[in-house]
Amino acid sequence: MINEAKLLKRYGSPLYVYNRLLLMERCNNVKLFASTLKSDLPEITISMHYSTKANNNVAILSVVESMGLNVDAMSPFELEVAQRAGFSTDRILYVCNNISSSEMNLIHSKGVLICLDSVSQVETYGKLFPGSKIMVRINPGTEGVGHSEKVKTSGKATKFGISEANLPQLLDIAQKYELCIIGIHQHLGSLFLNETVDDYITGVQAGLDIIKKYFQNIEIVDLGGGFGVPYQSTESPLNLLNVAETLVPILKKFVADYPSVKEFKFEPGRYIPCESGSIYGTVTAIKYENGIYWICTDIGMNVLVRPAMYDSYHDIQLIYLSEGEHKQVTANFCGNICESGDILGKDRVVGLPEVGDIVIVKNAGAYGYSMASNYTGRPKPAEVMINSDNHPELIRRAENLDSMLRPFGKLLPLPKMGNFLK
Ligand SMILES: Cc1ncc(COP(=O)(O)O)c(C=O)c1O
Repeated sequence: MINEAKLLKRYGSPLYVYNRLLLMERCNNVKLFASTLKSDLPEITISMHYSTKANNNVAILSVVESMGLNVDAMSPFELEVAQRAGFSTDRILYVCNNISSSEMNLIHSKGVLICLDSVSQVETYGKLFPGSKIMVRINPGTEGVGHSEKVKTSGKATKFGISEANLPQLLDIAQKYELCIIGIHQHLGSLFLNETVDDYITGVQAGLDIIKKYFQNIEIVDLGGGFGVPYQSTESPLNLLNVAETLVPILKKFVADYPSVKEFKFEPGRYIPCESGSIYGTVTAIKYENGIYWICTDIGMNVLVRPAMYDSYHDIQLIYLSEGEHKQVTANFCGNICESGDILGKDRVVGLPEVGDIVIVKNAGAYGYSMASNYTGRPKPAEVMINSDNHPELIRRAENLDSMLRPFGKLLPLPKMGNFLK
């Protein structure tokens, strides 16, 4: 059994906590999805690339690597961590957006396949490395999928991908620099569940039609991520096998019509680490103001930004260290950041805790730590992995005053009273 209070005492509050077994189980589900497709498309490679942006902890990536999945990186940091986790170059795809020429140089020097997402970026790359092999990201034009407008990445309003109208120009630029477009990528957005899988399938079909119409000799078709998880108790888990079975006839038809294709890639991010991660924190104040109970915690929007940024729902549980009755109330949970939007959850019916009790935010393993910040000068928390023997392993140290002040270097005058950096 995990002792939450002991963990917080040892590693500090708040704290990200991951469950290795659940993480492995989700990797297995993704592998099963791939093998379902493979059994109907035996000639085709099915590659599952974990999208590092969901959680870039090297320990998480090591688990994903050991489970035999591939990986997507979208920044030099993500690439470095993926390589250190053991991914060889041929298992990494660099899916980027609006990068500088120096970043292109770095990726090229590492020999990693790059996926570019505008005609302008393809031209910059072509000037630097004429004759190279690249992938390009298209915008299939269908409405994106996602839990918020902010994560929909297809359709008229998105900054991502090359829309159909600009494909002739893309082909001209590619020809000018003798670039060989070996793969086409699309990503429709983040989080579809069983009820919204049709939107994903519609987008897949639209993308495949565009490939047939405009491109010749494409070898790789990357159909992106977006595989969702239920955050609310009313939602049911995504039936991945059902998604695979729905895709089979569509992909089979495509392969029959378009024989150069050798590989389908998918890029699940959230699906893999989300449910394995929680944030443990501490109740720091209780308020009753204007008819509203506020359960105030040290889990600020710098630790988990999803509720503030997307109005996302996360299940919140309490562990009572305090004794006595806990009167049932409807309360809002909030963090410790000086911002009105710093709210973790609204109108939750709970037993009223006391200061010092423990709060647990569920399903925080994806887009949690990787979107955490130092807003208002607060350090990012530690991350701990609970291994199969139930032993906690520190997988990223907490930041502290020292580590946050260090980047100022010599600019930082020593404090007048004593040297607190020592
Ligand atoms: C290009 C690309 N691929 C894959 C993903 C992973 O998406 P998800 O975490 O919804 O699976 C993202 C995230 O938005 C992305 O931008």
